[in-house]
Amino acid sequence: MNKKNAPLIRMENIHKWFGKVHAVDGISLTVDKGEIVGLVGNNGAGKSTLIKALVGVQPKNKGTYYWKGKEVEIKSIKDSRALGIEAVYQDQALVDSLGVVKNIYYGREPIKRFGPFKTIDFDKMKSEVAPLFDELGLDVASLDQEVRFCSGGERQGVAIVRAMLFRAKMVILDEPTTALSVPAIKRVLNFMKALKQEGISIILISHNIDHVYQVADRIAVISHGHKILDENTSENTKEEIEGVLHETAGAVYEEI
Ligand SMILES: Nc1ncnc2c1ncn2[C@@H]1O[C@H](COP(=O)(O)OP(=O)(O)OP(=O)(O)O)[C@@H](O)[C@H]1O
Ligand SMILES: [Mg+2]
Repeated sequence: MNKKNAPLIRMENIHKWFGKVHAVDGISLTVDKGEIVGLVGNNGAGKSTLIKALVGVQPKNKGTYYWKGKEVEIKSIKDSRALGIEAVYQDQALVDSLGVVKNIYYGREPIKRFGPFKTIDFDKMKSEVAPLFDELGLDVASLDQEVRFCSGGERQGVAIVRAMLFRAKMVILDEPTTALSVPAIKRVLNFMKALKQEGISIILISHNIDHVYQVADRIAVISHGHKILDENTSENTKEEIEGVLHETAGAVYEEI
Protein backbone atom coordinates (compact mmCIF):
# COMPACT_ATOMS: atom_id res chain seq x y z
CA MET A 1 0.00 0.00 0.00
CA ASN A 2 1.11 3.53 -0.79
CA LYS A 3 2.31 4.90 2.55
CA LYS A 4 0.93 8.34 1.80
CA ASN A 5 -2.61 6.99 1.58
CA ALA A 6 -2.12 4.52 4.41
CA PRO A 7 -4.50 4.69 7.36
CA LEU A 8 -3.22 6.19 10.60
CA ILE A 9 -3.41 2.77 12.23
CA ARG A 10 -3.86 -0.64 10.67
CA MET A 11 -4.30 -3.58 12.99
CA GLU A 12 -3.72 -6.78 11.07
CA ASN A 13 -4.90 -10.20 12.26
CA ILE A 14 -4.60 -9.41 15.98
CA HIS A 15 -4.92 -12.28 18.47
CA LYS A 16 -5.10 -12.27 22.25
CA TRP A 17 -5.57 -15.25 24.55
CA PHE A 18 -6.31 -15.30 28.27
CA GLY A 19 -5.55 -18.91 29.08
CA LYS A 20 -8.10 -20.87 27.05
CA VAL A 21 -10.20 -17.81 26.20
CA HIS A 22 -9.43 -16.57 22.70
CA ALA A 23 -10.61 -13.03 23.51
CA VAL A 24 -9.45 -11.49 20.20
CA ASP A 25 -9.43 -14.00 17.37
CA GLY A 26 -7.79 -12.48 14.31
CA ILE A 27 -9.27 -8.98 14.14
CA SER A 28 -8.12 -6.52 11.48
CA LEU A 29 -9.20 -2.90 11.74
CA THR A 30 -8.06 0.40 10.28
CA VAL A 31 -8.66 3.99 11.37
CA ASP A 32 -7.91 6.89 9.03
CA LYS A 33 -6.66 10.31 10.06
CA GLY A 34 -9.56 12.32 11.44
CA GLU A 35 -11.90 9.35 11.34
CA ILE A 36 -14.18 8.28 14.19
CA VAL A 37 -14.74 4.54 14.34
CA GLY A 38 -17.43 3.19 16.66
CA LEU A 39 -16.51 -0.21 18.07
CA VAL A 40 -19.58 -2.02 19.32
CA GLY A 41 -20.45 -5.52 20.50
CA ASN A 42 -22.02 -7.40 23.37
CA ASN A 43 -20.41 -7.86 26.81
CA GLY A 44 -17.28 -9.96 26.59
CA ALA A 45 -17.01 -9.57 22.78
CA GLY A 46 -13.33 -8.54 22.97
CA LYS A 47 -13.56 -4.78 22.42
CA SER A 48 -11.61 -3.67 25.48
CA THR A 49 -9.07 -6.44 24.94
CA LEU A 50 -8.46 -5.28 21.36
CA ILE A 51 -7.79 -1.71 22.45
CA LYS A 52 -5.76 -2.68 25.53
CA ALA A 53 -3.51 -4.62 23.15
CA LEU A 54 -3.24 -1.59 20.84
CA VAL A 55 -2.36 0.65 23.76
CA GLY A 56 0.16 -1.89 25.07
CA VAL A 57 -1.33 -2.41 28.56
CA GLN A 58 -2.05 -6.04 27.68
CA PRO A 59 0.06 -6.62 24.56
CA LYS A 60 -1.25 -8.81 21.73
CA ASN A 61 -0.05 -12.39 21.32
CA LYS A 62 -0.08 -12.32 17.51
CA GLY A 63 -0.63 -9.88 14.66
CA THR A 64 0.89 -6.69 13.28
CA TYR A 65 0.35 -2.95 13.70
CA TYR A 66 1.08 -0.43 10.95
CA TRP A 67 1.24 3.27 11.87
CA LYS A 68 0.93 5.45 8.75
CA GLY A 69 1.80 2.36 6.73
CA LYS A 70 4.96 1.49 8.65
CA GLU A 71 5.14 -1.61 10.83
CA VAL A 72 5.49 -0.72 14.53
CA GLU A 73 5.87 -2.66 17.78
CA ILE A 74 3.51 -1.78 20.63
CA LYS A 75 4.55 -3.63 23.76
CA SER A 76 3.87 -1.03 26.43
CA ILE A 77 1.96 2.20 27.08
CA LYS A 78 5.25 3.98 26.48
CA ASP A 79 5.29 2.64 22.89
CA SER A 80 1.72 3.74 22.15
CA ARG A 81 2.22 7.16 23.76
CA ALA A 82 5.34 7.70 21.68
CA LEU A 83 3.17 7.22 18.57
CA GLY A 84 0.52 9.61 19.92
CA ILE A 85 -2.14 7.18 21.12
CA GLU A 86 -4.01 8.19 24.27
CA ALA A 87 -6.68 6.03 25.88
CA VAL A 88 -9.54 6.56 28.30
CA TYR A 89 -10.23 3.11 29.77
CA GLN A 90 -13.47 1.63 30.95
CA ASP A 91 -11.86 0.62 34.26
CA GLN A 92 -9.83 3.76 34.83
CA ALA A 93 -6.15 3.22 35.46
CA LEU A 94 -5.80 6.08 37.94
CA VAL A 95 -3.67 6.31 41.05
CA ASP A 96 -6.20 6.52 43.89
CA SER A 97 -3.89 8.16 46.40
CA LEU A 98 -2.91 11.01 44.06
CA GLY A 99 -4.89 14.16 43.39
CA VAL A 100 -6.76 14.92 40.16
CA VAL A 101 -4.04 17.08 38.61
CA LYS A 102 -1.23 14.69 39.55
CA ASN A 103 -3.14 11.81 37.97
CA ILE A 104 -3.55 13.70 34.72
CA TYR A 105 0.18 14.40 34.46
CA TYR A 106 1.39 11.16 36.05
CA GLY A 107 4.80 10.35 34.53
CA ARG A 108 4.76 13.48 32.31
CA GLU A 109 4.96 16.30 34.85
CA PRO A 110 6.30 19.64 33.58
CA ILE A 111 9.57 20.65 35.24
CA LYS A 112 10.48 24.10 36.54
CA ARG A 113 14.07 25.16 37.17
CA PHE A 114 15.47 27.46 39.85
CA GLY A 115 19.13 27.82 38.93
CA PRO A 116 20.59 24.38 39.65
CA PHE A 117 17.34 23.03 41.17
CA LYS A 118 14.50 21.23 39.41
CA THR A 119 10.97 20.89 40.68
CA ILE A 120 7.59 19.83 39.36
CA ASP A 121 5.66 22.84 38.07
CA PHE A 122 2.33 22.44 39.90
CA ASP A 123 1.16 25.96 39.01
CA LYS A 124 1.56 25.23 35.30
CA MET A 125 -0.26 21.92 35.71
CA LYS A 126 -3.22 23.52 37.45
CA SER A 127 -3.46 26.45 35.08
CA GLU A 128 -3.55 24.09 32.08
CA VAL A 129 -6.05 21.68 33.57
CA ALA A 130 -8.61 24.08 35.08
CA PRO A 131 -9.91 25.48 31.75
CA LEU A 132 -10.29 21.98 30.34
CA PHE A 133 -12.46 20.94 33.28
CA ASP A 134 -14.51 24.08 32.67
CA GLU A 135 -14.78 23.30 28.97
CA LEU A 136 -16.12 19.82 29.76
CA GLY A 137 -18.31 21.23 32.51
CA LEU A 138 -16.85 18.69 34.90
CA ASP A 139 -16.84 19.90 38.45
CA VAL A 140 -14.50 18.35 40.92
CA ALA A 141 -14.48 19.67 44.46
CA SER A 142 -10.82 20.55 44.12
CA LEU A 143 -8.10 19.80 41.62
CA ASP A 144 -6.06 18.49 44.55
CA GLN A 145 -8.76 16.07 45.63
CA GLU A 146 -7.49 12.51 45.84
CA VAL A 147 -8.93 10.45 43.02
CA ARG A 148 -10.25 7.80 45.41
CA PHE A 149 -12.79 10.38 46.58
CA CYS A 150 -13.97 11.11 43.02
CA SER A 151 -17.20 9.68 41.59
CA GLY A 152 -17.16 7.38 38.56
CA GLY A 153 -18.05 10.28 36.27
CA GLU A 154 -15.35 12.48 37.74
CA ARG A 155 -12.79 9.72 37.24
CA GLN A 156 -13.72 9.50 33.57
CA GLY A 157 -13.48 13.28 33.39
CA VAL A 158 -9.92 13.06 34.68
CA ALA A 159 -9.01 10.60 31.94
CA ILE A 160 -10.75 12.62 29.22
CA VAL A 161 -8.94 15.79 30.28
CA ARG A 162 -5.68 13.84 30.04
CA ALA A 163 -6.47 12.89 26.44
CA MET A 164 -7.34 16.52 25.62
CA LEU A 165 -4.26 17.91 27.27
CA PHE A 166 -1.68 15.73 25.56
CA ARG A 167 -3.10 16.40 22.09
CA ALA A 168 -2.90 12.82 20.95
CA LYS A 169 -3.02 11.83 17.25
CA MET A 170 -5.41 9.09 18.17
CA VAL A 171 -7.77 8.95 21.13
CA ILE A 172 -9.41 5.74 22.29
CA LEU A 173 -12.48 6.10 24.47
CA ASP A 174 -13.79 2.91 26.10
CA GLU A 175 -17.33 3.57 27.38
CA PRO A 176 -16.63 7.26 28.09
CA THR A 177 -20.25 8.20 28.61
CA THR A 178 -21.64 5.50 30.91
CA ALA A 179 -21.00 7.27 34.21
CA LEU A 180 -21.72 10.80 32.97
CA SER A 181 -24.74 13.07 33.35
CA VAL A 182 -26.69 14.07 30.24
CA PRO A 183 -24.99 17.50 29.83
CA ALA A 184 -21.56 15.93 30.35
CA ILE A 185 -22.32 13.31 27.67
CA LYS A 186 -23.17 16.09 25.25
CA ARG A 187 -19.87 17.79 26.00
CA VAL A 188 -17.89 14.58 25.52
CA LEU A 189 -19.59 13.96 22.15
CA ASN A 190 -18.88 17.57 21.11
CA PHE A 191 -15.31 17.15 22.29
CA MET A 192 -14.98 14.14 19.96
CA LYS A 193 -16.30 16.18 17.01
CA ALA A 194 -13.81 18.94 17.85
CA LEU A 195 -10.93 16.44 17.89
CA LYS A 196 -12.03 15.12 14.50
CA GLN A 197 -12.00 18.67 13.10
CA GLU A 198 -8.37 18.87 14.17
CA GLY A 199 -7.56 15.68 12.27
CA ILE A 200 -7.36 13.51 15.35
CA SER A 201 -8.62 9.93 14.98
CA ILE A 202 -10.92 8.31 17.51
CA ILE A 203 -12.02 4.81 18.42
CA LEU A 204 -15.21 5.02 20.47
CA ILE A 205 -16.35 1.90 22.29
CA SER A 206 -19.92 2.21 23.51
CA HIS A 207 -23.03 0.17 24.23
CA ASN A 208 -25.05 3.26 23.46
CA ILE A 209 -25.67 3.02 19.71
CA ASP A 210 -27.32 6.43 19.79
CA HIS A 211 -24.09 8.07 21.00
CA VAL A 212 -22.08 6.14 18.42
CA TYR A 213 -24.37 7.31 15.63
CA GLN A 214 -24.04 10.92 16.72
CA VAL A 215 -20.30 10.96 16.03
CA ALA A 216 -18.98 7.89 14.20
CA ASP A 217 -18.05 7.79 10.51
CA ARG A 218 -17.79 4.01 10.56
CA ILE A 219 -19.04 1.20 12.79
CA ALA A 220 -17.28 -2.10 13.45
CA VAL A 221 -19.16 -4.84 15.27
CA ILE A 222 -17.17 -7.33 17.33
CA SER A 223 -18.63 -10.68 18.37
CA HIS A 224 -16.79 -13.44 20.21
CA GLY A 225 -13.38 -12.12 19.25
CA HIS A 226 -14.27 -11.65 15.55
CA LYS A 227 -15.13 -8.58 13.53
CA ILE A 228 -18.50 -9.35 11.92
CA LEU A 229 -19.35 -5.98 10.38
CA ASP A 230 -17.31 -2.93 9.34
CA GLU A 231 -19.22 -0.32 7.35
CA ASN A 232 -19.81 3.40 7.10
CA THR A 233 -22.40 4.59 9.59
CA SER A 234 -24.65 5.69 6.72
CA GLU A 235 -24.89 2.13 5.39
CA ASN A 236 -26.92 0.80 8.34
CA THR A 237 -29.68 2.18 10.52
CA LYS A 238 -29.33 2.12 14.31
CA GLU A 239 -32.03 -0.55 14.36
CA GLU A 240 -30.04 -2.73 11.96
CA ILE A 241 -26.93 -2.53 14.18
CA GLU A 242 -29.04 -3.28 17.25
CA GLY A 243 -30.46 -6.26 15.38
CA VAL A 244 -26.96 -7.59 14.67
CA LEU A 245 -26.05 -7.20 18.36
CA HIS A 246 -29.24 -8.97 19.40
CA GLU A 247 -28.60 -11.90 17.05
CA THR A 248 -25.06 -12.40 18.31
CA ALA A 249 -25.88 -12.15 22.03
CA GLY A 250 -25.73 -15.16 24.26
CA ALA A 251 -23.58 -17.44 22.09
CA VAL A 252 -20.76 -19.16 23.95
CA TYR A 253 -17.03 -19.45 23.37
CA GLU A 254 -15.73 -22.57 21.72
CA GLU A 255 -13.24 -24.50 23.82
CA ILE A 256 -9.84 -24.52 22.16
N1 LIG B 1 -7.47 -9.89 32.20
C1 LIG B 1 -8.24 -10.89 31.78
N2 LIG B 1 -8.04 -12.17 32.17
C2 LIG B 1 -8.81 -13.17 31.72
N3 LIG B 1 -9.82 -13.02 30.86
C3 LIG B 1 -10.07 -11.78 30.42
C4 LIG B 1 -9.30 -10.65 30.86
N4 LIG B 1 -9.79 -9.54 30.24
C5 LIG B 1 -10.79 -9.96 29.48
N5 LIG B 1 -10.97 -11.30 29.57
C6 LIG B 1 -11.97 -12.09 28.85
O1 LIG B 1 -11.85 -11.81 27.47
C7 LIG B 1 -13.13 -11.72 26.85
C8 LIG B 1 -13.27 -10.35 26.20
O2 LIG B 1 -13.39 -9.36 27.23
P1 LIG B 1 -13.41 -7.80 26.95
O3 LIG B 1 -13.23 -7.13 28.25
O4 LIG B 1 -12.47 -7.48 25.85
O5 LIG B 1 -14.91 -7.61 26.42
P2 LIG B 1 -15.66 -6.28 26.00
O6 LIG B 1 -16.09 -6.47 24.57
O7 LIG B 1 -14.86 -5.10 26.32
O8 LIG B 1 -16.97 -6.36 26.92
P3 LIG B 1 -17.78 -5.21 27.72
O9 LIG B 1 -18.71 -4.62 26.71
O10 LIG B 1 -18.53 -5.98 28.75
O11 LIG B 1 -16.80 -4.25 28.29
C9 LIG B 1 -14.14 -12.03 27.95
O12 LIG B 1 -14.47 -13.38 27.88
C10 LIG B 1 -13.39 -11.71 29.22
O13 LIG B 1 -13.87 -12.48 30.29
MG1 LIG C 1 -15.06 -3.60 27.65
